[in-house]
Amino acid sequence: MPQTLTITDNRTGKQYELPIEHETVRATDLRKIKVKDDDFGMMVYDPAFMNTASVKSKITFIDGDKGILRYRGYPIEQLAEHSSSFLEVAYLVLMGELPTKSQLDEWRYNIKHHTFVHENIKKLMEGFRYDAHPMGMFISTIAAMSTFYPEAKNIFDPESRQKQILRLIGKVPTIAAFAYRHTKGLPYVYPENELTYAGNFLSMMFKMSSERYQVNPILEHALTVLFILHADHEQNCSANAMRSIGSSHVDPYSACAGAAAALWGPLHGGANEAVIHMLDEIGSIQNVPAFVKDVKDGKGRLMGFGHRVYKNYDPRAKVIKKMAYEVFSVTGKNPKLDIALELERIALEDDYFVKRKLYPNVDFYSGLIYQAMGFPMDLFPVLFAIPRTVGWLAQWVEHISDADQKIARPRQIFLGADERPWTPIEKRS
Ligand code: ACO
Repeated sequence: MPQTLTITDNRTGKQYELPIEHETVRATDLRKIKVKDDDFGMMVYDPAFMNTASVKSKITFIDGDKGILRYRGYPIEQLAEHSSSFLEVAYLVLMGELPTKSQLDEWRYNIKHHTFVHENIKKLMEGFRYDAHPMGMFISTIAAMSTFYPEAKNIFDPESRQKQILRLIGKVPTIAAFAYRHTKGLPYVYPENELTYAGNFLSMMFKMSSERYQVNPILEHALTVLFILHADHEQNCSANAMRSIGSSHVDPYSACAGAAAALWGPLHGGANEAVIHMLDEIGSIQNVPAFVKDVKDGKGRLMGFGHRVYKNYDPRAKVIKKMAYEVFSVTGKNPKLDIALELERIALEDDYFVKRKLYPNVDFYSGLIYQAMGFPMDLFPVLFAIPRTVGWLAQWVEHISDADQKIARPRQIFLGADERPWTPIEKRS
């Protein structure tokens, strides 16, 4: 079977044969299609990249119709069940293979030796207002890190690049926890490197006295799994931001800050907070049918439902839903769970949602768990950003190592005014 696509331009009657590779044609090949020689050539119009592959990647595979998510070939369900730690999965996502015992030990050692932040970073964070949003603090502090490590701009020096990767993965939980403690007016708790990645984060968040914080193993495990589920998700909005910013060859701290900013929006990492607000607004199970009717009438969206890629149950939501019960066995049930379950039951039977293939996404249950564990709502996007830093870095390394890539620069269809002469102010209407 010939691996080509033949296009006939009905304006000119000319035919063009474009090579097909990996079920795609190169958009630049369309530029040959012209009516006049001096035409720019055909482009594709694809707002929001609905059907445009902008990269070739080996990191994360998603089949949205079948509800499949794999990191480097390993199904997310298996990683969530069997991984010994978040750092093991971080290694896999970044390096491409599961680590051997000695590789994992070395990786852990290296990351744990980058968990402390410069005291001036602490001072910088102390400068935020008492009621600063922790995600705003997180984004700004990540950006500020580029000023502490100016060598980070040497992105094509493998040694420097690896150092910044270790620093970012090591320090993001510390910055996240400091942001939280700042908003509470609590003293910052320094990292304890004997603890696991998730355990240390819980300790920096919730430790109150000088004694070691007793990490509850069920909650530590739950947070590890949540981190694993959020480590990467291929070309989502924030990964695309990371790649796009990184394509200018800026340092990874600046690019990560931009990616984190993209994550903050309510249609991306802010959705689990929106779910909690929605459940609060619904208030009780009896109000669920009326709320669903309002959504169907176009009065708002069912937050935590629907996904650009998944047209089936989000596999991460399945893992989280199961885990919610383990967490609630320690914390007590989040009273909003019953409303969420009823919402899901009604929506999954309703034609409106079935026809549009709207299923619960990862955010539908994650907020309930975070809330039960004692995390305030405004910390939810920060909790997402901690593990996703690994994904951003993996996407960034792949991007800047890809010979096909150049600085990201989309085209536009210009529909504005044609050339016109400047009008003096007294003649303007
Ligand atoms: N509730 C009600 N209707 C919805 C929802 C929803 N949550 N999501 C999509 N729809 C409807 C749209 O109104 C549209 O209907 P129409 O064809 O009659 O106009 C149809 O389904 C398709 O929706 P789009 O907006 O075109 O889908 P898109 O792929 O652009 O949006 C998104 C995906 C942004 C996630 C959307 O489903 C949404 O807003 N969901 C709620 C927010 C949310 O949970 N975001 C988290 C995403 S996961 C993550 O970032 C980790």
